[in-house]
Amino acid sequence: LIGSSADQVARIAADNVLAGLAEHGNGKRQVLGLATGSSPLGLYRELGKAVSESRADFSDTLGFALDEYIGIPDTHEQSYRQTLVNEVCHVIGLRPENLCVPQGTGDSVIAVQAAADAYDAAIKAAGGVQVQILGIGANGHLGFNEPGSALTSRTRIKRLASKTREDNARFFAGIEHVPTHCVTQGLGTILDAGRLVLVATGAGKADAIAAAVEGPLSAACPGSVLQLHRDAVVVLDEAAASKLT
Ligand code: F6R
Repeated sequence: LIGSSADQVARIAADNVLAGLAEHGNGKRQVLGLATGSSPLGLYRELGKAVSESRADFSDTLGFALDEYIGIPDTHEQSYRQTLVNEVCHVIGLRPENLCVPQGTGDSVIAVQAAADAYDAAIKAAGGVQVQILGIGANGHLGFNEPGSALTSRTRIKRLASKTREDNARFFAGIEHVPTHCVTQGLGTILDAGRLVLVATGAGKADAIAAAVEGPLSAACPGSVLQLHRDAVVVLDEAAASKLT
């Protein structure tokens, strides 16, 4: 789906999230998958508008984040938990206590991976994510699944690509303060969601979108796993769509 303005992209994406929750939720408690980053901010704003117009209600919704940094406490202002509380919970009325985020702290690698395994189990116990909101990296990453990630991967510890650390350095006091590792939902975990709604805008995403939507299914472009999903919705502006045939 292609919107002609940022506002239209956000509205189309929000409509598809709400329709997906209705379809895949089937009257059960809502379970929404959340992405950080700039791409979905307009979508969250539209969902907030839907709440204020009584077209949506997230006050009892469970939220599952895609990823979290390792090595900073979840109270750190740049942790994805805090980012989601500020940019999503406060905007759409999802309660912070109903927000689940992979655990990036622990006494050992084994403890962090055990928490990652428990995170996948918690998603399953909640009945699965009904709609997963996604952005895509310029290199095709989904969550922190950088190129080379296994297509069936589950929530696990990953090293951040140096490009991703450089991109995110603007949020920290310097690149040396950017964590080197993270915990991310795997591509297989993401594919388990009932519907995927990916938002991408700007010419910088055009190559990644072309590779994800029309390229070969390949770990070289993690976003290409969208092709395996039976209910994946991709919402773009003209610039992000410009390299599609
Ligand atoms: C989000 C995430 C990333 C971003 C991607 C795009 O939790 O893990 O995959 O979706 O890096 O970022 P933006 O939207 O800032 O361009």
